[in-house]
Amino acid sequence: MPCFPCSFGKRVESAVRTPAAAAEEFAGVQNVKQYSYKELKVATDDFCITNKIGEGGFGSVYKGKLKHGKVAAIKVLSAESQQGVREFLTEIKVISEIQHENLVKLYGCCVEGSHRILVYNYLENNSLAQTLLGRGNCSIKFTWRIRWNICVGIARGLAFLHEEVRPHIVHRDIKASNILLDKDLTPKISDFGLARLMPPNATHVSTRVAGTLGYLAPEYAVRGQLTRKADIYSFGVLLVEIVSGRCNTNMRMPDGDRYLLERIWEYYQRRELVELVDISLEGHYDVEEACRFLKIGLLCTQDAPKLRPAMSSVVKMLTGEKCIDEMKITAPGLLSDLSEVTIRNTHDNADTRTTSVYKDLYSSSDSMNNSTFSSGASTSATLTFTAVKERSL
Ligand SMILES: Nc1ncnc2c1ncn2[C@@H]1O[C@H](COP(=O)(O)OP(=O)(O)OP(=O)(O)O)[C@@H](O)[C@H]1O
Ligand SMILES: [Mg+2]
Repeated sequence: MPCFPCSFGKRVESAVRTPAAAAEEFAGVQNVKQYSYKELKVATDDFCITNKIGEGGFGSVYKGKLKHGKVAAIKVLSAESQQGVREFLTEIKVISEIQHENLVKLYGCCVEGSHRILVYNYLENNSLAQTLLGRGNCSIKFTWRIRWNICVGIARGLAFLHEEVRPHIVHRDIKASNILLDKDLTPKISDFGLARLMPPNATHVSTRVAGTLGYLAPEYAVRGQLTRKADIYSFGVLLVEIVSGRCNTNMRMPDGDRYLLERIWEYYQRRELVELVDISLEGHYDVEEACRFLKIGLLCTQDAPKLRPAMSSVVKMLTGEKCIDEMKITAPGLLSDLSEVTIRNTHDNADTRTTSVYKDLYSSSDSMNNSTFSSGASTSATLTFTAVKERSL
């Protein structure tokens, strides 16, 4: 059992902490596998740049080989994640106990001094963002059968988080880069529970979410209402991306073609959905199934959260166990309708936050990624993350 030097974290720094108090402090979180910083340093060759496999809003990710030869993805959380040791370990314990075929497995963590590092199962085939939706060369051939498995797998993983884990977990950041593929192309949802590791005033959480606006449910973006329905919206966006093989936002396209959801809705109304199925499938797909998946994407992204189906129903609709009532599909909620979004965070200077988020949004507005944003219509809104509540709908 690893020990915890008294220099760890805020609570542990207390000069009056006795061994008994320390034991009590870590009671209940002792089952979390702990790695020493030294061990992870060795595993990644001193966090060598050649072992770096990515970087996201939480920090850098390295590929590493652990003591017994097990390969792992090692996520070094950024300095902003300075949560106290106990709070951190409590969240880690929750995450590491969650196991499902379609969720990335967390092996354990390292909490030493200011280091906060997560150790995950390494997935061989990268993320959907880099493969199916990436611009580079990808050797994977995403046949319809593979896409079907990926969509149903993600839906099952999310249904598990929403409906079977107690208390339920709202992922908050379902998107293509958080869907990793193993060697058999089984999809695994990554980063669930991570938002809870962040102290409430961690500014990059807002920036990170703002970086993936295309997946954000309008009620979450505008009013900070975070419920499972916000995840279901993001899932709907992802579903239409997988079937169409396109990113939700593409500022390189002419006006009117930039926002995938808008197009899907238009084509649905014209009864021409089949036109939006990925042409790289070269017609080798089940037309009824592919169009049904697109309609389910529309059901999940409806503007009114209450109308979006629960994930367990989505799984049944995808697999054909449950029919979809087309009469009930209403227009999607489109963030692209908003002309001005202001990030408000009561912990920060509002002006500063707004500026930096706009910089984030527009600096990449020429690319095909998801951090682009429309300034077309007239509505004005406030994007607030301080009022985020986890409520059940
Ligand atoms: N378990 C893993 N196995 C293999 N590669 C991984 C794993 N976890 C992360 N990666 C790689 O590291 C990259 C960065 O992941 P990370 O989660 O830090 O950022 P992100 O998903 O792009 O954004 P965000 O921080 O918003 O989740 C991923 O795109 C993926 O390529
Ligand atoms: Mg991620």
